[in-house]
Amino acid sequence: MTDTTTTTAQTDAGVAPLEFAVTKNLAAKSSAQREEILKDPGFGTHFTDHMVDICWSAKGGWHRPRVQPYGPISLDPAAAVLHYGQEIFEGIKAYRHADGAVYTFRPDQNALRLQRSARRLALPELPVEHFLQSLRELIAVDGAWVPSGEDQSLYLRPFMFAKEAFLGVRPAHKVAYYVIASPAGSYFPGGVKPVKIWLSEKYQRAAKGGTGAAKTGGNYAASLLPQAEAYGQGCDQVVFLDSDGNIEELGGMNILFVKKDGTLVTPASDSILDGITRNSILELARDRGLTVEQRPVSLAEWRDGVASGDITEVFACGTAAVITPIGLLKGEGFEDEQPVGELALSLRQELTDIQYGRREDTKGWLYRLDA
Ligand code: PLP
Ligand code: COI
Repeated sequence: MTDTTTTTAQTDAGVAPLEFAVTKNLAAKSSAQREEILKDPGFGTHFTDHMVDICWSAKGGWHRPRVQPYGPISLDPAAAVLHYGQEIFEGIKAYRHADGAVYTFRPDQNALRLQRSARRLALPELPVEHFLQSLRELIAVDGAWVPSGEDQSLYLRPFMFAKEAFLGVRPAHKVAYYVIASPAGSYFPGGVKPVKIWLSEKYQRAAKGGTGAAKTGGNYAASLLPQAEAYGQGCDQVVFLDSDGNIEELGGMNILFVKKDGTLVTPASDSILDGITRNSILELARDRGLTVEQRPVSLAEWRDGVASGDITEVFACGTAAVITPIGLLKGEGFEDEQPVGELALSLRQELTDIQYGRREDTKGWLYRLDA
C-alpha cells in the first residue's frame, strides 16, 4: 500500500534540485519495532523503511527521482550488472547530535569519490548536489532511524549499477542510482578491541591500472576468498600487498603506522581506496604537529619496525570501522603481536567528537541532513 506526494528539497548551490516523487511505505515498521532494532543494530543487517532511486539513460540523463518503500528491485536477467559487474557504491554515516539534529561527515568527498569511481567504471557521474539531495531526501522520511546511542549511526549506502538488458560488453545505456540505509553499531562485533589481521600473500585485491582506487563491487568480490581465509585463521580482516610487496590496504579499511618519533605513515598507491576517514585523520594529525608521510610501505618495513620498536602502533580506519587498533599480524608461518599505543584511540576520540557534535567543527566537515 502506498500514498504518493511530490516534494522539492532545497539544494545550496549549482545544479537545479531534483523533484522527488515520495511514496510513503504504509507498511513501515512501528516505532516500537524500530526502537527494538535500534537498541542493538549490529552492522548491515537491518534496513530502514524507504530508499531513494534515480534513473539515468544515455538519452535522458538523470530522471525519475523517487523515494519509495524499501524493497526488492526488479531487474531484467540480462541486466549488465549481473554479468559484467558494472557497479559502484559509497559508504557514509548519519550521526544524531545531542540536540536531536542529524549530520553527516564530508559528504562532498563521498560525492566526488563516487564520480571518480563512475569515471573508472564507465558509469555516469551524479552531480554532487544530487548526491547531497538524495541523502537529505532519505533522512526526510527515515530520520527516526538515526540512532542516538553511543557510537551508533545510520549507515547510508548510495550505489549505482548498469541495468540495461544487453549482453554485449560495453558501458550500459541505462543505469540506476539508489540509496539505502542501515542502522549501525560497531562494525566489529568486539567493539574497539584490537583486531587480528591475516596477510594475504597468495591473492591480490588490485593491480596497477586496475580498479583498486574505485569503490566497485568487483574489488570486494576479489577480497572475499582471502577474507574467508582470514576468518579460517581466526582473524577479522585481511591485508593485501601489491605486486612489489608493498602494503596496500585491508579488505574494507585503510591502514596507518605510527613511528617511534610520532610520524604517521600510510601507504601511497594508485590502487587503493582514497579513504575519507584516513584523509581526515592525516589532517587532524598534522594539526597536532605530527609528521605525516604517504609513501610505499613494504612488508619488511612493517615487520622489522615492529620487531625493532620503530613502529609503535598500527591501526585501520574507514567509515564503517572508524579507527580500530590492529593487535596481531598473522601470515603463513608467523604471528607478529602488534604494539598497542594511545594515538589511535585519541584520534578516534577527536574524530568521533567532531562527527557527533561533541567538539567544534572548525573545518566545516559536518553537513546537516535533516533541515
Ligand atoms: N578501503 C576500502 C577497501 C574500503 O572499503 C573503505 C571503506 O569505505 C576504506 C578503505 C575507507 O574509506 P572511507 O574512510 O572513505 O570509508
Ligand atoms: C565502509 O567503511 O563504508 C565500507 O564500505 C567498508 C565495508 C567494510 C563496509
